[in-house]
Amino acid sequence: MSKLRLGILLSGRGSNFEAIARNVQNGVLNCEIGFVFSNRPAAPGLALARTMGLHCDSLEMTGTDRAAYDTQVAALLKKNGVDVVCLAGYMRLLSGHFVSQFPQRILNIHPSLLPAFPGLDAQYQALMHGVKVTGCTVHFVDDGLDSGPILLQAPVAVLDDDSVETLSQRILAEEHRIYSEAIAWVARGDYRLDGRRVMKT
Ligand code: GRF
Repeated sequence: MSKLRLGILLSGRGSNFEAIARNVQNGVLNCEIGFVFSNRPAAPGLALARTMGLHCDSLEMTGTDRAAYDTQVAALLKKNGVDVVCLAGYMRLLSGHFVSQFPQRILNIHPSLLPAFPGLDAQYQALMHGVKVTGCTVHFVDDGLDSGPILLQAPVAVLDDDSVETLSQRILAEEHRIYSEAIAWVARGDYRLDGRRVMKT
């Protein structure tokens, strides 16, 4: 059976991408990275992907037509034979049309225990709310904001002396762990969806 081909979309640092790529390299993750794309040509994550010899591309958004932009991105993913799209700090909302082209085939990592604190600055939101436990979530992407069915979550305790930076760092360590775990699960295919619930088969 051929390996699942991942397409990574990123906008920045790319530490989640790096964790996935390392797990692919060392055989922990039985997938291949077929394509890395960024909406920011200068994204450090994209530079890293190039040094790893991965096939990369970027496309700066010039107009305001999100649907037209996403159509181009979807075409690039398809041209590169991508089976599953992994959002790894991709700072753009995807159009409904894009999402419908990869049904249950787009994953995202979010730095909170969804449905708490969707959207931007989730770690700041958690600190400001005063929760004692937050964490991270890997979920399928639907056309809402961080609202798709949840694959995996990991809790992280909020400490009294936490700043956004210290909390983010501990959450990030868990992100790097569960994102690969969720991708491995999707690659094995031993799950089913019952409404919003993703369950083992
Ligand atoms: C992570 O915190 C991720 O949860 C969020 O964006 C951040 C990306 O970080 N979606 P990195 O670029 O993977 O280092």
